[in-house]
Amino acid sequence: MDKTKIQIFDTTLRDGEQVPGCKLNKDQKLILAKELEVLGVDVIEAGFPISSPGDFDAVRAISKAAGDVTICALSRAVEKDIDAAAGAIVDARRPRIHTGIGTSDSHIKYKFNSTRDAVLERAVAAIKYAKKYVEDVEFYAEDAGRTDNEYLARICEAVIKAGATVLNIPDTTGYCLPSEYGEKIKYLVDNVTGVEKVTISTHCHNDLGLATANSIEGVINGARQIECTINGLGERAGNTSLEECVMVLRQHPYLGFDTGINTKLLNPMSRLVSEEMGMPVQPNKAIVGSNAFAHSSGIHQDGVIKKRETYEIIDPLEVGVDKSSIILTARSGRAALAYRLKELGHHITKLELDAVYSRFLEIADIQKEVIDRDLQQLMEAKEEVLAAFGNKN
Ligand code: KIV
Ligand code: ZN
Repeated sequence: MDKTKIQIFDTTLRDGEQVPGCKLNKDQKLILAKELEVLGVDVIEAGFPISSPGDFDAVRAISKAAGDVTICALSRAVEKDIDAAAGAIVDARRPRIHTGIGTSDSHIKYKFNSTRDAVLERAVAAIKYAKKYVEDVEFYAEDAGRTDNEYLARICEAVIKAGATVLNIPDTTGYCLPSEYGEKIKYLVDNVTGVEKVTISTHCHNDLGLATANSIEGVINGARQIECTINGLGERAGNTSLEECVMVLRQHPYLGFDTGINTKLLNPMSRLVSEEMGMPVQPNKAIVGSNAFAHSSGIHQDGVIKKRETYEIIDPLEVGVDKSSIILTARSGRAALAYRLKELGHHITKLELDAVYSRFLEIADIQKEVIDRDLQQLMEAKEEVLAAFGNKN
């Protein structure tokens, strides 16, 4: 079956960098942008050029260095923002301006003290202004997740007429349920005149831990671009995680979608971003956490040793991890201990294993993890361990 390609719009260098303490300098941004291109993303949102001269320079440098990947710059629906965005991406082979405005009643009333009609006019004016600079203009309806669908459809229709090429429907506050977000995308597909000419994009935040689920639901209902970040970095609880979305689509091929991402680079990319930003990855993070392919309970270890697929749905090699790991703890069984001893070159009989395992449990109850050095010491004292076990039994 021919798969529909989903565009991956990476915003690690813009929304991801908004994490307190994760600010990147120009050189760091350049290094990451180059690696993102190698990873295979379709769009790099390189920054918010009006925000500081340093960010303007970084976006400019990325645009100069980029190959065929689209380089996108963020702006509010304000002319001087759009001027800065356009100036920063002038050297990009594929430049895109990303402009927009808050569309929920809450944003319209409290942020802008304005009206729906006036906000719609500002959105249209911003798109028309950005079109003077570039062909590819993406519109974001900030807080679309909490925006009335009928009004959202009206504003989307108006910006398409004004020349928008991509409609970004952000769940800015991470509020939507997957079904609700999916219905929102479907509503736009069914009710916006001209929608077939543009790409609908998801942009979900993770305040309720639903960002990946919402993005996938958006794709199932007609979105063709996902906005996401490496390691799910971003404001508050973060953005949609790139690695999760890519692997969800890959592991469920019957959905009929794929991306251009080289999945073998996912783990190295995650580590690079973590190092450059000084932001550790939580060990239990899907796909790229240090425990994502680690097994520590006896039942699971026994299964994985017999056949990896019993407890793993992804081959670690597919995402750039050498192999699954068996962590020896007080919950591990004989099979895991024998497996690790064999890997270390110790072949022991079944009877010896009983004795060594009994000593192993004593050590494991004291320590969180039994490491190779402990096993070496255990084997050096094997005769003594066997004798003590013999006396006890
Ligand atoms: O979350 C959001 O709404 C955004 C927009 C600025 C695209 O990041
Ligand atoms: Zn965002």
